[in-house]
Amino acid sequence: MARSSQNFVCQSCGAAHSRWNGKCDACGGWNTIVEEAAAVPAGAGARRSKGRPFALEDLQTADELPPRRTTGIAEFDRVCGGGLVPGSAILIGGDPGVGKSTLILQALASHALQGAHAIYISGEEAMAQVRMRAARMGLSQSPVALGSATCVEDILSTLESGPTPSILAIDSIQTIWTSALDAAPGTIAQVRTASFDLVRYAKASGAALLLIGHVTKEGQIAGPKAVEHLVDAVLYFEGERGHHFRILRAVKNRFGPTDEIGVFEMTGRGLAEVSNPSALFLGDRSGTAPGTAVFAGLEGTRPLLVEIQGLVAPAGYGTPRRAVVGWDSARLSMLLAVLDARAGLAMGSQDVYLNVAGGLKVSEPAADVATAAALISAFSGQPLPSDWVYFGEVSLSGAVRPAPQPELRLKEAAKLGFHTAVVPEGTKAEGAGLELKFVRDVAELVQLAGGVPRRRRSGNESDE
Ligand code: TYD
Ligand code: MG
Repeated sequence: MARSSQNFVCQSCGAAHSRWNGKCDACGGWNTIVEEAAAVPAGAGARRSKGRPFALEDLQTADELPPRRTTGIAEFDRVCGGGLVPGSAILIGGDPGVGKSTLILQALASHALQGAHAIYISGEEAMAQVRMRAARMGLSQSPVALGSATCVEDILSTLESGPTPSILAIDSIQTIWTSALDAAPGTIAQVRTASFDLVRYAKASGAALLLIGHVTKEGQIAGPKAVEHLVDAVLYFEGERGHHFRILRAVKNRFGPTDEIGVFEMTGRGLAEVSNPSALFLGDRSGTAPGTAVFAGLEGTRPLLVEIQGLVAPAGYGTPRRAVVGWDSARLSMLLAVLDARAGLAMGSQDVYLNVAGGLKVSEPAADVATAAALISAFSGQPLPSDWVYFGEVSLSGAVRPAPQPELRLKEAAKLGFHTAVVPEGTKAEGAGLELKFVRDVAELVQLAGGVPRRRRSGNESDE
């Protein structure tokens, strides 16, 4: 086999180049290309495989396969698709300090308490530190096997000499290196090779592998392309600084749905599961201020009510500001344009701020109607009724379009004490226990939210 001469690798996207360059052509990053020695795996080129293809029907059926391994942390298990599949590998990414190590240690401790063999290998913290953390979380009695190692060959030879763990966690892949390569730990080549060796061990032994990875500032797991295709599932652990909520989200899952989320709260004693997140994201609503609307949302199979807050104020000077937290800013611009063109709400000269309460990121298009309602109310200065919820997608024509699973959303709203739901026309939800108000387009929504805004002053007019 011809050996590749491309051993200049971009540390941000993993693209290989034949020579050094200041800028990576693939991702546009500057100064990200580093020379890496090409790996020469032992026995390379030798023919080893004795594999032969199987007929699909001859393989084990789902009931014959070993059961999924649950950790007992329901929020975690659900995001994994109902537990960990033996022999699978999962990558858990997140910003440093978000709580990845805490989550995984808790999951392993809970799994080990069921009598299973769980191993946690930390390349970042010394054993004493891990033990201290476990003691703080009240887990010191849990029979998790701890290890502190960074060389993948050491890790694998230790693992192979003992019983196969049910779950193996590596914290983090950026610290693990293989002696087969000259490159420094944390480089793409190291992360890729070490992860590959660990994944191969998991597949061969049947252990479920959890790889923890830090996300770089640009929001990418270092070498995402290098590792994401190796693993069966990619989960992100996210949370805003200053908020206690943490959300575990599946972005790829070969064994389960990808739109599930798990909600946790960071406490003084580790992460606590939040089984009723709607109550948490709604907070305490007094319901008198203009500019807030509750969106009856859905995250995966689970309904979630969140408060959308808007603020519209005359722009003081220059280009009006648009600031968004927890929602897509392009979507806000689109919604403002639709409200202007289809309902006559000219906010072009106003500063517009939008915030999703509780630090949640909402990506569902069905949040359009709630956002529009919050903006209309913020613009007009008239508060919306505090016991109303909203959902529906707004199209460029101004029409309000249906959203999936209305019954689930409405049931959750009724459970939390809401009385009225503003929904797209044609929404069927019998027995939801809420009064439904149908809207066909944004103009009807404006009427419902209190009519044409009273306040329509721009920052340049001085009519006071
Ligand atoms: P950690 O799991 O170390 O983050 P990561 O592995 O993602 O880098 O979590 C660290 C943060 O969590 C730290 O800022 C302190 C906080 N924390 C608590 O608030 N309570 C706790 O019981 C623990 C263990 C951590
Ligand atoms: Mg950590």
